[in-house]
Amino acid sequence: MSLAPGNQWINRASMIIVVFSHFEYDCIVKERLYYLFDTGMATAFLILRATELGLVAHPIAGFDEAAVKKTLEIPNNVRVISLIIIGKKSQKIHPELTDLMKTTEINRPGRFPLKKFAFINKYNQSILE
Ligand SMILES: Cc1cc2nc3c(=O)[nH]c(=O)nc-3n(C[C@H](O)[C@H](O)[C@H](O)COP(=O)(O)O)c2cc1C
Repeated sequence: MSLAPGNQWINRASMIIVVFSHFEYDCIVKERLYYLFDTGMATAFLILRATELGLVAHPIAGFDEAAVKKTLEIPNNVRVISLIIIGKKSQKIHPELTDLMKTTEINRPGRFPLKKFAFINKYNQSILE
């Protein structure tokens, strides 16, 4: 089993997209590896497009990378970064969802406040002060 317990979306999902990459697929500038940055950008657009099509797309990190690679015969030097669980939005909240999932289906999860990560001039100098 490749999925961590608690990822109940998977049970009724129409499709799982496996997002993978390799550090040599993108540029390395002074030891800064850009493949994760670009994979994240591509994934974000994929999620936006799925949403535009009226679907629901949940990225997850709760999976066993070795098991995913074995099942799909993905080479060892390639990293599986995320699985995107895609499905149609249900009109009802399914009982098999975890309590947390049920809650976040109704109220979107909180986001970090802007002042926690957006600074001006110097790190930790709040943009809002
Ligand atoms: C990188 C990443 C990994 C995630 N991994 C999991 C996961 O393993 N299990 C899970 O239930 N939700 C996971 N989530 C959260 C859901 O995909 C989703 O973001 C959450 O339900 C909130 O939805 P929203 O961000 O569209 O508001 C992850 C989110 C991100 C960005």
